Amino acid sequence: MEHLIKKAARDLVDVDNAVALTGAGISIESGIPPFRGKGGLWERIDPMMAHIDTFLNDPEKVWRVLMNEMKDVIDMARPNDAHLGLYRLEELGILKTIITQNVDGLHQMAGSRDVIEFHGSFAWQRCMECDSRCETRDVDMTQIPPRCLCGGIYRPDCVFFGEQIPPRYFQRSQQAASGCEVMLVVGTSAIIQPACLMPMTAAESGAKVIEINPDSTPLTNSVSDYLIRGPAGPILNRIVDEIEKILAKPEPN
Ligand code: APR
Repeated sequence: MEHLIKKAARDLVDVDNAVALTGAGISIESGIPPFRGKGGLWERIDPMMAHIDTFLNDPEKVWRVLMNEMKDVIDMARPNDAHLGLYRLEELGILKTIITQNVDGLHQMAGSRDVIEFHGSFAWQRCMECDSRCETRDVDMTQIPPRCLCGGIYRPDCVFFGEQIPPRYFQRSQQAASGCEVMLVVGTSAIIQPACLMPMTAAESGAKVIEINPDSTPLTNSVSDYLIRGPAGPILNRIVDEIEKILAKPEPN
């Protein structure tokens, strides 16, 4: 693994337009469970709970699941070394944009400025009647489902299964993916479309694709140039340390 960390540092150090695609795995070290695999949300809950039709048919039922499984976990979570590592890469002028499938807001909390929330955000609620938005922390959650002042039901400003990615997020992500020289794919099983197409767009445009994940994914050995196998926090820390070491060395005359 050590040689791949050094390789990633060399691949990143001279670049000023790297992009990261992140998924639930990057937030595991912050205490937020992933969707798939051991301990994943879909072991306990039917994924149909995240389908828009289920929400429209029975918003109260879905809201109770959201309150039990998501709200407190997200409220309590803080960025971990992986989020902070990506922020450090931005500060070094290497990483330009993060495309995240997560709705937990942890990249922004870590300081990252250009974050495309591909699947929306749980930090905001949208009224299904009048379409006004309200920050989740300002919504009265004593009644479920929570309601807007107009009486309409609030829905999380997230993309449910069965819904389209907001076109502006999709277009910006494609632009970022096709314009980068390196794409870091961190903590995603890379099976949910269209997010998992971004590494392909990057590779087709000539970018190096580097995966960081304890497990292989459908991208490994096909779209990705290499996989650094392991948890995102320690690996990103090591990569940034290596980059800082390279940058600290005086240029040869
Ligand atoms: N560091 C990095 N990656 C990790 C770690 C870790 N410490 N632990 C686990 N992983 C990896 C897993 O190996 C897996 O590949 O994180 C990935 C998590 O995969 P998923 O749970 O499928 O999450 P994600 O890829 O974000 O799912 C995509 O599916 O259900 C929908 O809308 C939901 O945005 C989500 C989308």
